[in-house]
Amino acid sequence: MREENQSSILGFILLGITDQQQQEDIFFILFLFIYPSTLIGNLLIILAIHSDIRLHNPMYFFLANLSFVDILFSSVTVPKMLANHLLGSKAISFEGCLTQMYFMIALANTDSYILAVMAYDLAVAISRPLHYTTIISPRSCVLLVVVSWVIANANALPHTLLTSSLSFCGNQEVANFYCDTSFLLKLSCSDIHFNVKIMYLGISVFCVPLICIITSYIRVFSVVLCVPSTKGILKAFSTCGSHLTVVSLYYGTVIGMYFRPLTRYSLKDAVITVMYTAVTPMLNPFIYSLRNRDMKAALGKLLGKRISS
Ligand SMILES: *[C@@H]1O[C@H](CO)[C@@H](O)[C@H](O)[C@H]1NC(C)=O
Repeated sequence: MREENQSSILGFILLGITDQQQQEDIFFILFLFIYPSTLIGNLLIILAIHSDIRLHNPMYFFLANLSFVDILFSSVTVPKMLANHLLGSKAISFEGCLTQMYFMIALANTDSYILAVMAYDLAVAISRPLHYTTIISPRSCVLLVVVSWVIANANALPHTLLTSSLSFCGNQEVANFYCDTSFLLKLSCSDIHFNVKIMYLGISVFCVPLICIITSYIRVFSVVLCVPSTKGILKAFSTCGSHLTVVSLYYGTVIGMYFRPLTRYSLKDAVITVMYTAVTPMLNPFIYSLRNRDMKAALGKLLGKRISS
């Protein structure tokens, strides 16, 4: 009896994105294209930014950081999904499950804090151009990035520790293709009241960057609307466009994720999950590079150099 109890916490079953094999195959093929594109696209952004001296400014360094987080974020879930599909397995170990959970929370948080830092950077550039270099100094850039990582990991740790202490009495089927706090809480047979409270606290911490982003944009728009349009402001606006697209994609899918039912499958929920875990991280570099002339030039130079050498 005791042995059975212990063996039940050895692992979980990841049921997948949908409950239909045919749809699952289609998503597998999609991931097979999306994942390498995410890696290559984001890696190119990082290389282009670091190799072009004209892009050595805070905005692009933050963008490179965003690309770095996106690479890690999609690597937490997608390779495991691809491997399981190829091996015809649905299993994940208990430790594997908690590791996924930890990094999903930490990286999703880092992503949102870096988006907030980018919005702040934009707001300072537009509303206080004369003081920009003193406010956003190289030192404060590093500080902002480090603080983002620290807050994000400090947010992920309690969830993971609390979830690791729960018992799972034989119910191991996660109705998703990766481990996520809410799905695991649903499966536990322990008292989860405290865990749920901490989860909501975590979600509210998650809203802090969104508030920063909204405040920054209110500032940006109030300045832009008061000052007659100049070349600089037009340029800033094209940057705003890319950033706003990424922010809406990101928070749109986050909201979609939190409102999805945890047990029932529908194609809509599946699409939102796929958007959140794989498509958004892939799109970020494209959104930035396609709309931005400097970025396009840097990418062209980088690729040209590689091809000619
Ligand atoms: C992240 O940002 C910091 C601070 O601007 C910068 O020094 C670092 O190179 C960036 N990281 C990446 C991967 O570009």
